[in-house]
Amino acid sequence: MVTKLIFDCDPGVDDAVALFMAFAAPQDLEILAITTVGGNVAADLTARNAAIIRQIAGREDVPIHAGAKVPLIRPPLDAGDFHGESGLGALPLFAPTKGVEEGHAANVIVDLVMRHGPGEVTLAVTGPCTNLALAMRLEPDIIERLGLIVVMGGARREGGNVTASAEYNIWADPHAAEVVFSSGARCVVMGLDVTHQVRSDPARIAAIAAIDTPAAQASANLLAFSSALERDIVGGAGAPIHDPCVIAYILAPELFTLRPCQLKVETSSRLTVGHTAVEFGLQDPAAARIFWATHADADGVFALLNELLAR
Ligand code: BDR
Ligand code: CA
Repeated sequence: MVTKLIFDCDPGVDDAVALFMAFAAPQDLEILAITTVGGNVAADLTARNAAIIRQIAGREDVPIHAGAKVPLIRPPLDAGDFHGESGLGALPLFAPTKGVEEGHAANVIVDLVMRHGPGEVTLAVTGPCTNLALAMRLEPDIIERLGLIVVMGGARREGGNVTASAEYNIWADPHAAEVVFSSGARCVVMGLDVTHQVRSDPARIAAIAAIDTPAAQASANLLAFSSALERDIVGGAGAPIHDPCVIAYILAPELFTLRPCQLKVETSSRLTVGHTAVEFGLQDPAAARIFWATHADADGVFALLNELLAR
């Protein structure tokens, strides 16, 4: 069955690799729209970066709609340290031949979800949740109508990657994340507990670099950039490929283990804002709407990534 997908992202090095994966799977994913949000870098750059990746992938048939420039409440804060000034690391840039389409991302999400049948549209979110939260506020009926939402965000066992307890996407717009996770929509959450298990070590990058397609060559460049930064700033073996876990889950859910949970986002504490409080002790696990990823088959994710990049 083909999954109808809206891919909301803030490219971003690892968002870009996730985009290549999604673009390479037209027989499994019908991408209704790419929507972009200010996050890793400013909103005009994330939209442009999505258009660059689309062109490298040869998928100009997929529309891109730019969205929120700033978070709902907190001031914007970027992650240029980890994604380079452009947001795409050291990838050679060019002006994309095709730009973004008219229409704000939040309106496009509302229109597409309402135009399709109940449960028909899946949402991948690999940046701050601002666009989706805006869409849920614009038209609350989308909440019931949406299919699965797969979000990269949050941390439990691993602790945070921006502050002691907060992961970047949630920290960048905690209020938007709280709107999404408290909405009652069905969400699968790929937090750092699982994305830290999926790392692009030198052997894995070399395997991608050996694939002779534009998407693989660009991905090897992007992953080499983030792995070098990870080594210099954090130490340790290879950068986690956070956002590709979202697309890997949508294409091959058997690669991940999930646990039903309740998830609340800290929005007001000075020290722990953006913390995801993930509670597994549920009275009625069968009624859970949120599923927290606890384990990934990293070799399986890379095998899938390599297979897609070779297409
Ligand atoms: C998340 O933050 C961003 O910098 C990455 O693109 C990813 O979505 C990881 O914390
Ligand atoms: Ca991202």
